[in-house]
Amino acid sequence: MQTDQKGEAGWIYRLTLETLSPADTPSIREHLKRLCEFDRYCRFFSAMSDYGIDRYTAGLDWTCMVASGLYRDDELIGIAELGWGASADNTRDKTPHAAEMAVTVDENYRHRGIASWLVKEVIRQGQRAGIRQMDASWIGGNDSIAKIMRQHDARIWLSAAHWHGTAQLT
Ligand SMILES: CC(C)(COP(=O)(O)OP(=O)(O)OC[C@H]1O[C@@H](n2cnc3c(N)ncnc32)[C@H](O)[C@@H]1OP(=O)(O)O)[C@@H](O)C(=O)NCCC(=O)NCCS
Repeated sequence: MQTDQKGEAGWIYRLTLETLSPADTPSIREHLKRLCEFDRYCRFFSAMSDYGIDRYTAGLDWTCMVASGLYRDDELIGIAELGWGASADNTRDKTPHAAEMAVTVDENYRHRGIASWLVKEVIRQGQRAGIRQMDASWIGGNDSIAKIMRQHDARIWLSAAHWHGTAQLT
């Protein structure tokens, strides 16, 4: 889906919602590298260097994740992912039931509903892959994630230092 928007200085830019694939890896890497130290901690629950982001994006396993992204022209300004892990015999779960959600939006584009919108999009993708449950974890004070999970009627609880939410996707 594409839409043309008029920017503050009057020029036109193009917003494109994409189903992300391995071809988007360089844009994902650049998007994550634009996050400040605190945002990287919120996303990965640990300090994350540029080198760490290189390794993380190089290791993305597209057989057990789906992702939606919003491009402004050629720049990826937001991503929502649903990822699922290995099954009991340590092979990738081909028929996943539950997936972990992660979302990031470039600082200059926040508080406009982009994360909420991308999460709704990635849920649609996940449901097509068989996902019926969305899990998420976040640090205290990350109110927008709590609000997004509540939009999907999540059960929310505090465990140790982190908040957790589980939403059934019917
Ligand atoms: C978390 C993050 C993705 C939110 O992106 P965003 O595009 O600003 O989020 P939205 O605009 O969709 O806001 C979602 C909801 O939270 C609300 N919200 C946003 N900021 C808020 C705040 N500081 N306090 C209370 N509510 C807030 C919005 O009003 C919206 O609720 P609504 O739909 O009822 O209006 C963004 O801040 C980010 O990338 N943070 C760093 C990475 C991170 O923390 N990721 C989450 C862990 S995986």
